[in-house]
Amino acid sequence: MTTTSARPTSAPEPADPRWDRVETARRVQALLPALRQRLGDRVSTAAPVLDHHAGGGEGVPISSRPDAVLFPLDNEEVAFVARQCFEAGVPIVPFGTGTSLEAHVAAVHGGISLDLSRMDRILDVSADSLDCRVQAGVTRLRLNAAVRDQGLFFPIDPGADASLGGMASTRASGTAAVRYGTMRDAVLGLTVVTADGRIVRTGTRARKTAAGLDLTRLFVGSEGVLGIVTELQLRLWGLPETVQAAVCQFADLPAAVRSVITTLQMGIPVARIELLDAVQMGACIAYSKLEGLSPLPTLFIEFHGTPASVREQIELLEQIAADGGGSGFAWAERPEDRSRLWKARHDVTYANLALRPGCRMIGTDACVPIAALVECIEQTLADVADSGLVAPLVGHVGDGNFHLGILFDPKSEDERARAEALAERVALRAIGLGGTCTGEHGIGLHRMHQLVAEHGEGVALMRSIKQALDPKGIMNPGKMFRPEPPTRPGETE
Ligand code: LAC
Ligand code: ZN
Repeated sequence: MTTTSARPTSAPEPADPRWDRVETARRVQALLPALRQRLGDRVSTAAPVLDHHAGGGEGVPISSRPDAVLFPLDNEEVAFVARQCFEAGVPIVPFGTGTSLEAHVAAVHGGISLDLSRMDRILDVSADSLDCRVQAGVTRLRLNAAVRDQGLFFPIDPGADASLGGMASTRASGTAAVRYGTMRDAVLGLTVVTADGRIVRTGTRARKTAAGLDLTRLFVGSEGVLGIVTELQLRLWGLPETVQAAVCQFADLPAAVRSVITTLQMGIPVARIELLDAVQMGACIAYSKLEGLSPLPTLFIEFHGTPASVREQIELLEQIAADGGGSGFAWAERPEDRSRLWKARHDVTYANLALRPGCRMIGTDACVPIAALVECIEQTLADVADSGLVAPLVGHVGDGNFHLGILFDPKSEDERARAEALAERVALRAIGLGGTCTGEHGIGLHRMHQLVAEHGEGVALMRSIKQALDPKGIMNPGKMFRPEPPTRPGETE
């Protein structure tokens, strides 16, 4: 999804004495002839193109435009751009589809937005090794369309049809991570271009390796602050023989969560198990016209496997759900019913915004150890009730991960402040329970202080790595790390 977080453009840009917008614009201007000579008309300074790369969204005042947008086609062009920017001291903001929820692609200090969407070639697919190599701009749905007829699929599904490079950069996951893992698990190797323009291949096609530091995983989730992901070696999976989806409703939300926990503890290999609370269900029923369902706490579940294994999983899960007071399963038997169900799930944000026309939304992304999930959700829902705000809850509860979509009226400073305070409490609660402030959306522009609360001294190590790989600080400046001076251990700002 693209346009829903209110914070990216409303929050002030963090002041950073190292960057001056006017000076950066002048440096970019000076670089343009060399860039145009190499990339031709794939260099743009047209206002609508700059606006599209500002990291904002529909109807939001745009405040973080880059000074130019480049559309490279291959590793060598990216390396050329990096060398130029490194020499000149110009920020580079890698851009995929612009669908990040945490303003990763906002050019907060100006500079170059490096749009990788035209690096969209699928370079190799191996049905035998179950892997593929793609350029960073290939989107997840395009990859799936391309490999489907070989009996393969790529299961990682953030809401948007994001680019695979962007998904690697944010360590994205989605609804099937409970079974297939996240981008951390799906990426075997990368080609990255470093801040100073070196082209480096990380990882191999092997499923495991003990050779040296794991550069692949260093770059997965690095949010563009270490270098530019230009190609990916990805795992693929065989399409399951049988897919069944079901819906189960509960009177009581903790009972629904406990059913999920029992399912995981028993090792039942569900492919998806998503929780929607009553408010979220009400929003989805209205927006996606779901029939035969009530606004009650609900699990959307999917089973993958052979017919026999799916049958066994269903029997076990029906028993667990019944023990928790769940309704019988409503089945989405036909592929089109299944698509409808998961489309409704992926459209939760639009369903939420439709609850209060004109409102905007802050998303939270708490992820906690499974044993702390009931406590975290119960405390969070009590907090929502106290706040007086509307905040539907939806979650990848099989991963211990859930989101609030906190709605507020953008014209009310008071509501915005209460929404932000609620989001902050959710993040800190997750950290306090041994979890993380963000399971899948990333740090970006608005969680930099939460990163410190979560990692303390670890952030100093992260900064050292950043300094080593990006000594001039040109890679996506203003994201992940607060401006200097470095924060100290335990400091939460
Ligand atoms: C989802 C996005 C918000 O789960 O991560 O719908
Ligand atoms: Zn999510």
